[in-house]
Amino acid sequence: KRRAERVDGAERRNKLPSPASSLPTDPALYSGPFPFYRRPSELGCFSLDAQRQYHGDAQALRYYSPPPTNDQGPNFDLRDGYPDRYQPRDEEVQERLDHLLRWLLDHRGKLEGGPGWLAGAIVTWRGHLTKLLTTPYEQQEGWQLAASRFQGTLYLSEVETPAARAQRLARPPLLRELMYMGYKFEQYMCADKPGSSPDPSGEVNTNVAFCSVLRSRLGSHRLLFSGEVDCTDPRAASTQPPACYVELKTSKEMHRPGHWRSFYRHKLLKWWAQSFLLGVPNVVAGFRNPEGFVCSLKTFPTMEMFEYVRNDRDGWNPSVCMNFCAAFLSFAQNTVVQDDPRLVHLFSWEPGSPVTVSKHRDAPYAFLPMWYVEAVTR
Ligand code: A3P
Ligand code: MG
Ligand code: MG
Repeated sequence: KRRAERVDGAERRNKLPSPASSLPTDPALYSGPFPFYRRPSELGCFSLDAQRQYHGDAQALRYYSPPPTNDQGPNFDLRDGYPDRYQPRDEEVQERLDHLLRWLLDHRGKLEGGPGWLAGAIVTWRGHLTKLLTTPYEQQEGWQLAASRFQGTLYLSEVETPAARAQRLARPPLLRELMYMGYKFEQYMCADKPGSSPDPSGEVNTNVAFCSVLRSRLGSHRLLFSGEVDCTDPRAASTQPPACYVELKTSKEMHRPGHWRSFYRHKLLKWWAQSFLLGVPNVVAGFRNPEGFVCSLKTFPTMEMFEYVRNDRDGWNPSVCMNFCAAFLSFAQNTVVQDDPRLVHLFSWEPGSPVTVSKHRDAPYAFLPMWYVEAVTR
């Protein structure tokens, strides 16, 4: 009642309450009950080929093909082929939301939920949402998210921070090789056709990607997002995406309880956030030894990951992650009021600080391409 009176008072003076200018990220502020999260459903997919060209089909989807379990276990040399059979994607190219917008342009007329659905939705990459989910626990890397409202829809696109760019340009050789090894593991675990076997003799080309496009809802926020999917399991109990998808990960072989504890607290949080958002039920980990060989595999069901930290005072909590994400989306919705594809609200966050906002027009921050704006406007 008192709150209603305050709002009335503000309105009488013709002054609506202005949106907050920053958003705190302390985990303690977000420890309420788990918010509503609609089971993600796949609306479609697209593929990027070896030249990073878009295709509106599943041609880049690979099939989960783990080694037979009857013999001694795997012995994958993750350094094999480096650097001679490696075609890394050009990370200088900032693709922003372009591939997802291309998909949206081809499908916006036939989206479920009716013609008004998109106007009330948030469009972004799954990876951006992953960063939001882990923010209350992140102590190393900040982020920047550019936001524009266009025909009602709120678009969120990550901007590489100056620190991240500097780190990428100065990436040490060992880290470059470690990145390769993550992709090499996928090659040992995936086949190009269902029922066939992996072929680790070819090149590792990180331009190639299969992306699923999904619809979901977090609290009152409608979501349309896309995420890269490593492979599908032809033998999964449910053949319906995203329930048939499998996420592949590598991690250091662990030998002491302290290593496992730290793995549960840090790595498993990121794995959970990434796979939970998209509805991927299982993450298959390959543990590499100091020589770069994977000799053991372990499947982590996404819905069981929290159990490893449930009783850990220094663990993470899925409710905190999801409540913070919902709070950020409300903050962004209330901040980006003007409908203008050339206007950008830049949300910036550094560990230990709240999320702050700055306002920009056109280059370099505007990210909705002219071909998209014009096609949608006419
Ligand atoms: P690993 O995570 O197994 O090391 P994804 O697991 O998301 O499918 O990504 C595949 C691989 O891309 C990763 O394998 C890693 O090698 C590389 N990669 C992904 N995100 C990265 C990041 N932020 N920094 C460095 N490498 C990354
Ligand atoms: Mg991947
Ligand atoms: Mg992976």
